[in-house]
Amino acid sequence: MSTHLGNLLYLIPIVTFILALRYLSNPARARRGNQIGAAGMLVAIVVTWIKAGAGSWWALVIAMLIGGGFGAFAARKVRMTAMPQMVALFNGVGGGAAALIALAELHRILPPPGRPEFDVSTAIAFSGLIGAISFAGSMVAFAKLQELIGGRPLTYPGQNIANIVLLVVLVALAGALSGGVQDQWLLWAVVGGGALFGVLFVLPIGGADMPVVISLLNAFTGLAVAIGGFELHNNVLIVSGMLVGASGTLLTMLMGKAMNRSIGNLLFGAFGKIQDGGPAAAAAAGTDGGTVRSASAEDVAVMLAYAHKVVFVPGYGLAVAQAQHDVRQLADLLEAKGVEVSYAIHPVAGRMPGHMNVLLAEANVPYPQLKEMDDANPEFSRTDVAVVVGANDVVNPDARNNQGSPIYGMPILNVDDAQTVVVLKRSMNPGFAGIENPLFYNPKTVMLFGDAKESITKLAADVKSL
Ligand code: TAP
Repeated sequence: MSTHLGNLLYLIPIVTFILALRYLSNPARARRGNQIGAAGMLVAIVVTWIKAGAGSWWALVIAMLIGGGFGAFAARKVRMTAMPQMVALFNGVGGGAAALIALAELHRILPPPGRPEFDVSTAIAFSGLIGAISFAGSMVAFAKLQELIGGRPLTYPGQNIANIVLLVVLVALAGALSGGVQDQWLLWAVVGGGALFGVLFVLPIGGADMPVVISLLNAFTGLAVAIGGFELHNNVLIVSGMLVGASGTLLTMLMGKAMNRSIGNLLFGAFGKIQDGGPAAAAAAGTDGGTVRSASAEDVAVMLAYAHKVVFVPGYGLAVAQAQHDVRQLADLLEAKGVEVSYAIHPVAGRMPGHMNVLLAEANVPYPQLKEMDDANPEFSRTDVAVVVGANDVVNPDARNNQGSPIYGMPILNVDDAQTVVVLKRSMNPGFAGIENPLFYNPKTVMLFGDAKESITKLAADVKSL
């Protein structure tokens, strides 16, 4: 296949990738977006195979069956709550592939009289470095989220300086590679050092910030792949790598904004580290020695059935309990009684971007009932009952009021503006940030203790009988 025809055919996957991103930005069309992207990827693989001389088609089919089979199996098996670590794993594999391609490409070119051009050797050096950082960092993120290693930040004095020195040395070595010192051992050193940097870079970051780190590493993988495109003179790699790089960067910035934290604070602030007088003191400051009121499902059902307006506020516990279908059924019963129902969605509720949207979409909750934080907050003052289903940090008023709190400044859902707040959770345990929540001690709040699915089922039965 001629280069021109190949590049022309590459326009198909390029357009489908852009369309896929467009569709993925809306939960109603996300599935279609995935299908369009997958179809584009198939075209990209086949065109690349033909361009490269179409060796054994069997080899291609077998490789695709192994990779595709593993992907399909993992996607079917993974629990919704384990999705962030799966994304970390898949992202790491992408970064690792970019690093391996860099090693293989130099190995292929170098035998005398081979000598890569400046642009190719630069691409090899930097795709190897960035790909290795992304691979190793993603594996640490995976291990933290999977609780193979502790989620708390691991810090030591001078850590940031040591990391910066290592990075400067690695960039200098990569610079030497692109400048003409074309030894394979040097590339191995860059890739190995990059992997070490990836580990040291992610270890000090707390588990709560892992999804943000994964999104940043996703941007790194995109960049490594795009640079790999220059190394292999492959346009579809350049464009798709940059799409991943740009969307990963945007997502990182959006998540930082939703938590009201700068990227520097997220990456170097060791959020979640236990400090003397830190979170514990902040928690104590928030509770003010108040008491916790717990209610029965019957009492809460009466409140709900006679309310004018009820807002459900889902959080990570909804995903753990898999209570989305039950919440929808309860909402239907309330609507049949003339209650106005909506859902308030915090951008970082759950453990991954869009987590709550995905769960509620699964239960076919009508999209107009889903209110983003900025639209939901003004509504709470005219809400009779806010039902917090397994959410904790995203409704913690300390983020608004307590300057000593580690989550101070994070925008939250102001459920305490509602007339009554009902909190469904199993215990007084804290949420992901590991801090206490004064909302539970607010005189307006009643707690309905128990697994969210069981509590919602009881509530639905009681509402039905009223
Ligand atoms: P969390 O603060 O993690 O709280 C979840 C609550 O759900 C827990 O307090 C837990 O209490 C309860 N729960 C767990 N299983 C339950 C079950 N089966 N039934 C009922 N309740 C259950 O959740 P959130 O409010 O959604 O906040 C998300 C946190 O993750 C934030 O700190 C956010 O910054 C962080 N984070 C999120 C993201 C993204 S992108 N979503 C990214 C990075 C960090 P019990 O154990 O007492 O039941």
